[in-house]
Amino acid sequence: MTRIPPHHLTTDRLALRPTSAADAERAFEIQSDWNVTRMLRMASFPPDRADIAQWFADHEREWAAGEAYRFAVELQGRTIGVIDVDEISQGEGELGYWFEPASWGRGYASEAAQAVVNFAFRTVGLSQLLSGHAVDNAASGQVLLKLGFRPLDTVQRESRSRAGTILQRRYFLPASVAPE
Ligand SMILES: CC(C)(COP(=O)(O)OP(=O)(O)OC[C@H]1O[C@@H](n2cnc3c(N)ncnc32)[C@H](O)[C@@H]1OP(=O)(O)O)[C@@H](O)C(=O)NCCC(=O)NCCS
Repeated sequence: MTRIPPHHLTTDRLALRPTSAADAERAFEIQSDWNVTRMLRMASFPPDRADIAQWFADHEREWAAGEAYRFAVELQGRTIGVIDVDEISQGEGELGYWFEPASWGRGYASEAAQAVVNFAFRTVGLSQLLSGHAVDNAASGQVLLKLGFRPLDTVQRESRSRAGTILQRRYFLPASVAPE
């Protein structure tokens, strides 16, 4: 496994930095909005402050171990969202993202996710990214299509936040076809 030192990324409007324990409270705030968390299959709602703190406290170790790379996305010094690549195994990883609703609709998720996709392929050296969204999350599908992801299939998954089954549209993006 290649060790990737903690990495900062910048885009035209945004700064991305590795998350740490200090980001837990802001993450709790953002995930306290049902419109965010209902789209996050693995998150609980209402969010549990202690669980989120424990999760963020592990992010620096995950990064060092090459298990997951998670970034806080900052706009003018304020954290507006999180983008991560996790479930890393055999050259593949899963892209995920969530932003505060006040920042939606301005292209921030697409802009920041493009930087993370480039990082995953060029710096980490992954050969493929996977992602997926609930079928009622058209905005997320649009973000993935803009990044060049290709539709794979639609499957039934358990959603923790919705406490039930959802239909999830899954996508893949091989490094070899990722737009520059
Ligand atoms: C999904 C999410 C990250 C998008 O963030 P964002 O900053 O608004 O995304 P962008 O502005 O970069 O792009 C959104 C795209 O979706 C489109 N869109 C928004 N709502 C839409 C809708 N209801 N139907 C179709 N397209 C829609 C926008 O027009 C835009 O596409 P365009 O640039 O081609 O016009 C944000 O809504 C979010 O955090 N949601 C809650 C958590 C979540 O869903 N995470 C992903 C889980 S799979």
